[in-house]
Amino acid sequence: MDEQRGSGRSAFALDGASQRAKAAVKAAWWGAAGSVTRALANPTRGEAKTKFEPQGPPVSAARLRRAYLAAFDKDTADVAAGLYPPMEDGPRNPAQAFRRALDVIADAKAVDQRRRRSDGVEVRDEPESQGYPTYYRQNFHYQSGGWFTDASAQRYEAQVEALFSGAAGAMRRRALSLLAKHWRGQDQRGLKLIDLACGSGSFLCDLDGAFPRAAIGGLDLSRAYLAAARSRSKRGGVQANAERLPFADASLDAVTCVYLFHELPPRVRPVVAAEIARVLKPGGVLAFADSVQPADEPNLSRLLEAFPAYFHEPYYSTYAETDLPALFSGAGLRLIDQDQAFLTKALLLEKPA
Ligand SMILES: C[S@@+](CC[C@H](N)C(=O)[O-])C[C@H]1O[C@@H](n2cnc3c(N)ncnc32)[C@H](O)[C@@H]1O
Repeated sequence: MDEQRGSGRSAFALDGASQRAKAAVKAAWWGAAGSVTRALANPTRGEAKTKFEPQGPPVSAARLRRAYLAAFDKDTADVAAGLYPPMEDGPRNPAQAFRRALDVIADAKAVDQRRRRSDGVEVRDEPESQGYPTYYRQNFHYQSGGWFTDASAQRYEAQVEALFSGAAGAMRRRALSLLAKHWRGQDQRGLKLIDLACGSGSFLCDLDGAFPRAAIGGLDLSRAYLAAARSRSKRGGVQANAERLPFADASLDAVTCVYLFHELPPRVRPVVAAEIARVLKPGGVLAFADSVQPADEPNLSRLLEAFPAYFHEPYYSTYAETDLPALFSGAGLRLIDQDQAFLTKALLLEKPA
């Protein structure tokens, strides 16, 4: 990014200040939307089928707050260091942010009813879900429409931001940070990158901003989410299953993959890891981000235990105990860097040249 800005350290410092100001507005807005949503559909209230018996110690509010704020600090520092420009994250104007927050709040009751019925597979009755892998045909997070409707795709980012009180963008960008450091000083023209499981396109927008000259595309199994991603990012998207990537062997310089692996069954994770390794060029990298695991954050382990219980994450418990470097090493990828912020960890893995 240095080469495009060409405006020196002070401009980056201003960018850092701008990123911090945006983060403060986001944290306040999505923190409030999250609080209203939780008040309307308190996952822990009343009789729910979910029986959650925590093992980990209670989470200290001060510790949680420190970890949360540290995510914004890292993001701001990377912008101030010129690794990537300030990012918009989500709705571009207050009217849209207002509509998105209202939509999440309006949907909260339906999510809660699904949670209370413990119905994470309602979407299997919908005609749109026919023909997809069984593991995919679920209401992950108990969300209305699963991955199958336009309304779900439009709502998703606001739901994630409300869940993480505005920190989702900053957390995802740990993977961007690792990749931007790795590519620093390299001519981006001709570099090819795919954002695997791009969802509704938040990270694609970050990649657009950081690497405007690289050839970047998204891939997702959801038609609806890809349509949302296309409308937000100027990059194209392809609908495909990550288990069978529609790319030639050794054809990509980088794959990014954010928040996919915790939603894959254990038998599918090595298949997707092998596909990523297959399509990467020798010397190419995977920038990966997903939930922290209990060993990374023992002090927050109770939160990590609660997540699959209240948000229908059927494969999370096996993800939590997966040795990720070993999983990727089995596919031929070598861990070369890592980072962590709040509830997300990022890994940079290389296909040896
Ligand atoms: C939790 S969302 C993450 C989306 C996005 N990366 C983000 O950071 O918000 C998981 C995404 O993975 C996609 N997905 C799940 N299984 C998939 C598969 N087998 N192939 C391709 N995409 C898949 C879903 O459609 C969904 O968009």
